[in-house]
Amino acid sequence: STVITVTPAQLAFTAVPKSQSDVVVVPAGYNVTVLTRTGDPIAAGVPAYRNDGTDTNFAQRIGDHHDALAYFGLNAAGNKDLASSTRGLIVQNHENINNQYLHVNGSTNVSTGPRPEGEAIKEIEAHGVSVTEIRDTGNRQWTWVQDSRYNRRLTPNTPTVMRGPARGSDLLRTAYSPAGTDGRGTINNCANGVSVWSTVVTCEENWAGYFRRPSSGAASDNANRSVGEQVSLRRYGVTSSTGSYAWSTVNSQNSIFRKWDARATAADATQDYRNEPNQYGWVVEFDQYNPASAPRKRTALGRFGHEGAWFGLPVAGRPIAVYMGDDSRGEYLYKFVSRENWLAADATASDPLAIGDKYLDQGTLYAARFNADGTGQWLPLVFGQTPNRPATGADPEYVFASQADICVNARLAGDAVRATPMDRPEWTGVNPANGEIYLTLTNSNATLRPISGTDAANPRHYNDPKGATEPVPDPATPPQPTNQYGNPNGHIIRLRETDDNGAGTTFRWDIYLFGADNVDADPVNVNISGLDDSNSFSSPDGLWFSRPTNPAGQGRPLMWLQTDDGAILDRTNNQMLACFPGRVGDGGARTITNRAQNGTTRQQATIVGANATPATVKRFLVGPQECELTGVDSTPDGRTLFAGIQHPGEAGDATRPTSNWPQSQAGTNSGRPRSGLVAITKADGGIVGI
Ligand code: FEO
Ligand code: CA
Ligand code: CA
Ligand code: CA
Repeated sequence: STVITVTPAQLAFTAVPKSQSDVVVVPAGYNVTVLTRTGDPIAAGVPAYRNDGTDTNFAQRIGDHHDALAYFGLNAAGNKDLASSTRGLIVQNHENINNQYLHVNGSTNVSTGPRPEGEAIKEIEAHGVSVTEIRDTGNRQWTWVQDSRYNRRLTPNTPTVMRGPARGSDLLRTAYSPAGTDGRGTINNCANGVSVWSTVVTCEENWAGYFRRPSSGAASDNANRSVGEQVSLRRYGVTSSTGSYAWSTVNSQNSIFRKWDARATAADATQDYRNEPNQYGWVVEFDQYNPASAPRKRTALGRFGHEGAWFGLPVAGRPIAVYMGDDSRGEYLYKFVSRENWLAADATASDPLAIGDKYLDQGTLYAARFNADGTGQWLPLVFGQTPNRPATGADPEYVFASQADICVNARLAGDAVRATPMDRPEWTGVNPANGEIYLTLTNSNATLRPISGTDAANPRHYNDPKGATEPVPDPATPPQPTNQYGNPNGHIIRLRETDDNGAGTTFRWDIYLFGADNVDADPVNVNISGLDDSNSFSSPDGLWFSRPTNPAGQGRPLMWLQTDDGAILDRTNNQMLACFPGRVGDGGARTITNRAQNGTTRQQATIVGANATPATVKRFLVGPQECELTGVDSTPDGRTLFAGIQHPGEAGDATRPTSNWPQSQAGTNSGRPRSGLVAITKADGGIVGI
């Protein structure tokens, strides 16, 4: 394909105004096509989705809550062709569900149980990942192929293989796999990554809440557990007394339900489901071109609330680096560095999962520390080198027993090395022009970021009166009264490895951009990046650089930003912005004054960076009501951009839907809302964004 170089970089569209309408809004000159929606059939013979709660068989339908996505080309004969922009596979995560719309009369006993078996099966199968073939039927009129041989669903029931240091560990022994070598399923698949050898890695984020366990750690559960297991379960938040959706309360002995009950009921771990939580929280690699292949859980990359996993730029003869956020308040940024050096021929190997074994099963996991002077360290999480986690609160010292233990309990290892607690690390991305790493920090609150607890990398604490009443709570983040204070609008930080060496242990960093409401935020202390009506946003989440094969990905590459916000929804629905970032160090430094809750306590904070030019940040898209924007990729030629619309109408129910999207996109304001994949094209066939 022809490569066109575009200089200077320019955002050649008119910014979309803020919007609270129930449609996807894009700039003048652009078109929106709705592709696969929740429930659409992706196997021969599966009936069309009725969208009235009577549909079944989600194992052969598109799942709910469209999250991260990636496009992979097919040639005219239907074979792998990464350069193709007219036919390909869309791989998309299905993070969670709007359970209220999946059944005829909503969910039965969803918070307490007992749950009806049929409802639970549907909800379980609506989670996971989908692979769907799509085709351009002419002039970028995209449609999906219901009976493609590539179409596939990964669900929480799909057999998986455990790989890396934790494979065979006692910590992974389950009734399903007494040897601790195999697993079943993937859940809460949030962001993703594409490996240098073109497989997908899907990331398990908020898995902890699905398990049932007495929240108090009751004696009945703890009697058969070690103190270390108890510490681990508390640290990871496996504390629900029913589990999200209460699937373990189905009146059935089938282990697809029973496994969500993680209470230890027998002295022998293989006789119950106590270790099932250790099966989740991983980066999971699979080959989207090979539907028969089992996904591989890459335990060397650590277990936590994995948001995404983005690969650093590969350099022949050097290790591969992977950058990963752990999305919870006060969690860490991680990096994995392969033991093996990159061999360019591996990019096109015939068995890509074997290449994954080579680079992702042995290596070093690190957690990041950000220093106040704009430098940082990668701290190794290595058995024999990493100290034990000291006694913390009510927890006694945690003594690591092996590298498997460190991988399963990576958060405890991050605590032990005193990594920097961050304001909810979401997506990572890598600038293809210079290898710099970007990380969205979506927000924090007064509990996790009190005025006395700010630092240079997480410098803001202020009062946002709107943060208190998030009108549309993210299901993964229940509204907390203290959201009003802290850093409710989030920011974006970026790193440059010393000598651009991804295998190194030091870096420089600065802050690229701060979210804020341009209308009422204090311009000095809150709207620090000087956002205006054309680009004001809050709670950055999805972040992705245009592909280098796309003219918008060359020279000064275009970065896309997606929001998942609670604190600015009084002004606009969630949105997608296009940005031309500069580089680490070009933002200077300055001092701001944080203000505490009482309005008078003040504290100086020094900020590294943040001098983004608002002219290089523009709002490109606004979504329908109560959605978040999640997932972004383009065809290799950059002429079709794909994005995910996740959970429109999430606050409503079957009798009172609060969005009618995607029906509303075609002018029909009725019916239950569905998550959906959209394709965005330019009316003149040009490259999206520039
Ligand atoms: Fe699934 Fe942190 O977003
Ligand atoms: Ca979500
Ligand atoms: Ca996210
Ligand atoms: Ca989010």
